[in-house]
Amino acid sequence: MKREKILIIDFGGQYNQLVARRVRECNVYCEIYSYKTDLEKIRDMKPKGIILTGGPNSCYEEGAAACDPALFELGVPVLGLCYGAQLMMHTLGGHVGKAPVREYGKIEVTTDRSSKLFTNVSEKTVCWMSHNDYIETAAPGFQIIAHTPDCPVAAAQCEERQLYAIQFHPEVLHTQEGTKMLSNFVYEICGCAGDWKMDAFVENSIRSIRERVGKGRVLCALSGGVDSSVAAVMMAKAVGDQLTCVFVDHGLLRKNEGDEVEEVFGPNGPYKLNFIRVNVQERFYEKLKGVEEPEQKRKIIGEEFIRVFEEEAKKIGTVDFLVQGTIYPDVVESGLGGESAVIKSHHNVGGLPDYVDFKEILEPLRDLFKDEVRRAGLELGIPEKLVCRQPFPGPGLGIRIVGEVTAEKVRMVQDADAIYREEIAKAGLDKSIGQYFAALTNMRSVGVMGDERTYDYAVALRAVNTIDFMTAETAEIPFDVLVKVMNRVINEVEGVNRVFYDLTSKPPGTIEFE
Ligand code: XMP
Repeated sequence: MKREKILIIDFGGQYNQLVARRVRECNVYCEIYSYKTDLEKIRDMKPKGIILTGGPNSCYEEGAAACDPALFELGVPVLGLCYGAQLMMHTLGGHVGKAPVREYGKIEVTTDRSSKLFTNVSEKTVCWMSHNDYIETAAPGFQIIAHTPDCPVAAAQCEERQLYAIQFHPEVLHTQEGTKMLSNFVYEICGCAGDWKMDAFVENSIRSIRERVGKGRVLCALSGGVDSSVAAVMMAKAVGDQLTCVFVDHGLLRKNEGDEVEEVFGPNGPYKLNFIRVNVQERFYEKLKGVEEPEQKRKIIGEEFIRVFEEEAKKIGTVDFLVQGTIYPDVVESGLGGESAVIKSHHNVGGLPDYVDFKEILEPLRDLFKDEVRRAGLELGIPEKLVCRQPFPGPGLGIRIVGEVTAEKVRMVQDADAIYREEIAKAGLDKSIGQYFAALTNMRSVGVMGDERTYDYAVALRAVNTIDFMTAETAEIPFDVLVKVMNRVINEVEGVNRVFYDLTSKPPGTIEFE
């Protein structure tokens, strides 16, 4: 089936994946490509529309990111956002320069509601601006359709050529009617039908996996995390017992997590997977003995994971397909998609296991953003508790224990974390906080319990709100909830006598505490 598609041309701005997510929220499929992508390739993809994103440059400077001017002659609707808008104006004969007043933040914009872009948008609407340059004069043939007191061309259009430019960021939630504007672009201007729906995606994927796999044998590494769980269940629905899932319990999971994963995916669970649980807790603790440096811990855990998986795969023999839980941000960030290649040191498994004897890789979630993976999971009938669980790093508690990892410390952090999560849920905060967990610091200090002196560890509680995990703000947790957690942790977790709340945002901190 040919999917209708919007192309997002990436000029390296920070909100580019957000643009894609907003378009998909309108039930329209889209993909991100670098601005260096050949025009021929763009034409061949037959997009219904093209969106040019923001970017860090000034479009009039030597060597600034640009696109082929013929892009504007394809007869396909184009919407330029921020840098994309400036580039469109600059390329087509308008004038872009340094703004006398730099606009940043929420600003009231006056719109011309007769434009298709602003159908059902208020005349005065709050938008998110972030620019040093501005469009001084629109290109010939363009009509100004929005302005602010400091920005004479906040949006412009040339309706005959289906070209639209917006100086602000409709993709950011601070732009109150931004989703409406993007929806106007994809529906009213590009004429999309809106065929990107999760139920259809799941159904089509299962069908095409079945065709591709035939009678082949499939191997999947299951971590219990959202991506690999959804991938495994989708594969199981497609090819049943041709699939084997290997779950490596490295002893660095959250409290009872190994058993919970086995309950759902094991032989007594609803999916009847060929499920192999490898209990290698001691092996990992042994490898981590005496190691304090966080990067080294990550490496050891990653490598050992591969070794264990390799050993299990050898026992199974030749397989035809290996399943990977790659999702779309991984594709974009690994440089295959957009421009803003983020250097990603986060890998659950250290790259491709090339030792496993397999013919092909299957990546059933490769097209999906995280929220879409979750929706696909719910569509597949995976319990909400599993599908909506918060991110958990591949190296697990290994990077939530500062300093050397021991079985004893794992127990402490598991117990403290379980209490913390329970109290957060009881306070009704579990859905509103982006990510929260307990970590074990490497600090021991003197305390007194009953009549006895203690010399024990300090637990750090962490909770952050974040949109993209690249930056994060500390979440505000009511003081009484924190006090309750502190009391319970100290009373119930042996070896801990202090509890701290970590206030650090990212940057300068990271979300994890290692
Ligand atoms: P940091 O600590 O870098 O974390 O601010 C950002 C987000 O990434 C998660 N994280 C990982 N996820 N493997 C993963 O799959 C990893 O090695 C890893 N390290 C950090 C972290 O939980 C947060 O959501």
